[in-house]
Amino acid sequence: MNVYAGLTGIPVVKSSISYIDGQKGILEYRGIPIEELVENSNFLEVSYLLVFGKLPTKKEYEKFVSDIKENLELNQGIIKFLKDIPKTTYPMKVLQGIIPILSAFDENKEVLDEKHHYSSLVNLLGKVPTIIANWKKILEGKEPINPDKTLDYAQNFLYMLTGEIPEKEISQMFDKTLILHAEHTINASTFTAIVVVSTLADFYSAVSSAVGALSGKLHGGANEKVFYMLNQIKDLNQIEEFIVNKLNRKERIMGFGHRIYKTYDPRAKIIKNFLTRLSQLKGESELYKKAIKFEETALKYLKDKKIYPNIDFFTAVFYSYLKIPPQLYTPIFAMGRIPGWLAHCKEYIKENKLFRPTQIYDGGHNIHYIPLEKRG
Ligand code: COA
Repeated sequence: MNVYAGLTGIPVVKSSISYIDGQKGILEYRGIPIEELVENSNFLEVSYLLVFGKLPTKKEYEKFVSDIKENLELNQGIIKFLKDIPKTTYPMKVLQGIIPILSAFDENKEVLDEKHHYSSLVNLLGKVPTIIANWKKILEGKEPINPDKTLDYAQNFLYMLTGEIPEKEISQMFDKTLILHAEHTINASTFTAIVVVSTLADFYSAVSSAVGALSGKLHGGANEKVFYMLNQIKDLNQIEEFIVNKLNRKERIMGFGHRIYKTYDPRAKIIKNFLTRLSQLKGESELYKKAIKFEETALKYLKDKKIYPNIDFFTAVFYSYLKIPPQLYTPIFAMGRIPGWLAHCKEYIKENKLFRPTQIYDGGHNIHYIPLEKRG
């Protein structure tokens, strides 16, 4: 028997949800290239596509959007809980902690029942953005802003975060960044979700566990770290020295590299284009100028190793343009990934097999207990 560290390259499922060609830089959802979805669709329609395997009809789409709008509001008990917990609680922990409680508002508890798949999807897509935005307001010592059902999904989220209705072009770009986060085959958090659902635990437990997996800086947590990394650099002229020092110390450059993409991450390419547009609309921010020079310089050292910027490198700059605090970058990633996690849970449960890998034991045998007083 061999140990497959990190299960790298070991298929654990057959899936028709998304496809990546890491050599060519291709990402498709249900066979449709993400570039086409970003151009023509929106996050909620893509969520439906991912989870139910087809684009919704007009009637299905309208019902789906309306059901999500009916689920935007948080129960007062949850808002009180948010107000009572320590303000030092990291936003990803807040999200991970509250998601299982949302199951209390879902009548369809049976994980094998298709009704559970639909109701947990609309409940989570509705309430997760409200949790993130309410937590931001509570941290600022302000009252949470109630959702506004007259706004579209991204507009409402940005409104709850800032109290201002964003310009349409900007909220649309934000919505499209959610499309780009929505799904990415079997990564660490998605694998976590299907492991949990394979025990027949419900989708809330699966998503809450996936949020925990996503929070690590080798996964979704990288976007926040990119912001801090770029802010360590005080001057554009220091970028090269900063990168060289990091590489000499064998440190990872946050927002660069990917287990699957050995070429430019197609999602990063799209968000970089959004940034170009944002810089035209809002002027070139200091962080934007640093990120552009950083990318160009880092590639001089990393391109030969096939290490390119990933989605997290540019989303950090994108969110900072929208004045979103860095601690919320990874929760926003999680909010975008909900449909991907649920699509995999729904697919996996159809032919469920409880995950139970094995191990190669390399410890001792017949070792005897030593009483505490004799242990020195
Ligand atoms: N900065 C510097 N070097 C990097 C690097 C980075 N971001 N990512 C990989 N490398 C180097 C490693 O140091 C290693 O070099 P070596 O062969 O000289 O020891 C080589 O590339 C392979 O590293 P490995 O960890 O095996 O690659 P991987 O493909 O498994 O790594 C990540 C994938 C995502 C874990 C890795 O690129 C990383 O840590 N990136 C930074 C965190 C990040 O942005 N995560 C978000 C991913 S979407």
